[in-house]
Amino acid sequence: MRFLFLFSLVLILHSACAAEEQIPLDPVTGMKMTGDWEIVRNHCIICHSPKTFLQQRGTESTWGDTLVWMQKHGGLWKLEPAVEKSIITYLAANYGPGDKFRRAPIPLSLMPANPYATEARLEAEAKKKAGLIPTAPPAGK
Ligand code: HEC
Repeated sequence: MRFLFLFSLVLILHSACAAEEQIPLDPVTGMKMTGDWEIVRNHCIICHSPKTFLQQRGTESTWGDTLVWMQKHGGLWKLEPAVEKSIITYLAANYGPGDKFRRAPIPLSLMPANPYATEARLEAEAKKKAGLIPTAPPAGK
């Protein structure tokens, strides 16, 4: 009897740990069913497959930019600030950079010469060198 009790305790503890490690996936969208996932689903799979964003990784800042880009170019409507926060928090927490994030871009100074340079491109590059074209965003951006 005591053995049976211990055995079931071990089983219960085991399943509790497994549940913590593995977030169940929604069979329809493949999204991790945790936090505000339904808010994200309701807003983000109307126009395209969830794969469009599930294969992306990003910090809160990256996901925030994605939403702005969606609003400018994808037709996503203006969101209530609380809804926007829920979406960004969910995406960054569950689809954050992790270990497999893309490497940082190579600095321009280390890039090889452009083999497809056109006259217009050369002119723009010369202007950049002369300091006539800003290379960094204005301060405060
Ligand atoms: C009103 C329609 C619409 C809604 C709603 C929408 N999107 Fe999009 N989304 C688009 C369109 C259109 C594109 C393709 C844009 C392009 O390539 O110029 C796109 C592309 C994307 C991409 C780029 C995928 C890739 O690999 O190129 C991501 C990421 C994305 N959407 C995320 C989201 C997220 C997150 C939401 C929810 C907040 C969302 N979208 C809601 C219309 C929408």
